[in-house]
Amino acid sequence: MKPPGYGRDSRLRIEGGRRLEGTVRVSGAKNASLPMMVAALLSSEETTLENVPAIDDTVVMAMILRHLGASVARDPELPDVYRLSGRGVWRTEAPSRLVTSLRASFVVMGALLGRFGEAACAAPGGDVIGQRPLDVHLAGFAALGAEITREGDKFVARAPSLRGARVFMDYPSVLGTENILLAAVLARGHTRIVNAAAEPEIVSLAEMLNKMGARIEGAGSHTIEVEGVESLGGTHHRVIPDRIEAGTFALAAALTEGDVAIEDAVPRHLEALTSKLGDMGVHVEEHECGLRVARCGRLKATQVQAVPYPGLATDMQAPLAVLLTQADGVSFVHERVYDNRFLYLGELRKFGAEMVQAGSTAVISGPTPLVSASVRALDVRAGAALVLAALAAQGETEISDVFHLDRGYENLDGKLTKLGAAIHRV
Ligand code: EPU
Repeated sequence: MKPPGYGRDSRLRIEGGRRLEGTVRVSGAKNASLPMMVAALLSSEETTLENVPAIDDTVVMAMILRHLGASVARDPELPDVYRLSGRGVWRTEAPSRLVTSLRASFVVMGALLGRFGEAACAAPGGDVIGQRPLDVHLAGFAALGAEITREGDKFVARAPSLRGARVFMDYPSVLGTENILLAAVLARGHTRIVNAAAEPEIVSLAEMLNKMGARIEGAGSHTIEVEGVESLGGTHHRVIPDRIEAGTFALAAALTEGDVAIEDAVPRHLEALTSKLGDMGVHVEEHECGLRVARCGRLKATQVQAVPYPGLATDMQAPLAVLLTQADGVSFVHERVYDNRFLYLGELRKFGAEMVQAGSTAVISGPTPLVSASVRALDVRAGAALVLAALAAQGETEISDVFHLDRGYENLDGKLTKLGAAIHRV
């Protein structure tokens, strides 16, 4: 297993202009596997997670859990299978050095608070995409009876006895909902989370917790009910496929005028994207076990809004903007989730894309022939957008800071190479 930070100087060289075709399988979802790994802290019995993606974020999360005393073992024969147990947990303070590298690390707060009545964690890191406050998480813990203080760089939550409560979330934060769920499952009494996030990752986390013995209803809606239980056992759970990775392949097929079968993509999780692709003139077939995306012909300009699920995922916004550079006319991308997620526009302009920012909207004129460039991945999804632009551009593009991509995409270069892309890691 490579340590995080390995390959920090890696670059991708991509010779663009090749049509992608064939079949690709989507890996397990980054944003589902991370809170699920943390959920294992809630029990002293063993939990097996299958389909955990081999990405840097899961490696760092495993290190954080081990630091707390949990056991985390990756099956040498089946590298996507993790066996985890919270039996040996003896620390309730997360290591700042590691939590500052990924935002999902903050959900250890909910699990530790729920099981041990205390937790400490520094403000987490993650991508630079706008303000990412923690007020919703902390207000939720306070509603459950925890006292929140700040000690040095850490938030500390203490509750000798966590009790169920009505928790109203000011914003349907994804990790906020997960954090409150992880705390509430072991609280005494009934919790109702109002204005909860409804993303598929939350539904799957709730399913996993219920298999461990929790009593959660309503996940996937904006009101989640939790009846606290005394303790939780271990379980066996499969991580859902990564809808953002699946969407990235769909866009790669459309951009290169290709024809790609995306195995394991869950069509229902991707409806906001696939319905837009259909409007633009891309051919999308939905199957029980995946999608087929093909394009021949011109694309129509359109308007998209990045909003909470089931709307278009903000994580899809930058990759989709690349396709819009190839559409006939003026397209608009409205970002409603983050206040600073257009930094990538500057990098895409280096390919010749015509795009400007007007407040929380990107205005994109097309079609524009893209030409190769030397660019820098600014975060995981902005990095994916650059890979897509490079696939469509004439000539050889070099992308630096690809460690951002490695945080969230399992073997993206290898998978694209199998579809016919010319990508080299240097
Ligand atoms: N927000 C608040 N208060 C809070 C928390 C969030 O106002 O206490 C606001 C943020 O300022 C932001 C909005 O809520 O404007 C969305 O943040 P949210 O909390 O929903 O995001 P998150 O839970 O921190 C997860 C994903 C992100 C994804 C968002 C939105 C994980 C590990 N991360 O983050 O994924 O963009 O939900 O869907 O699940 C990525 O994978 O590249 C990524 C950034």
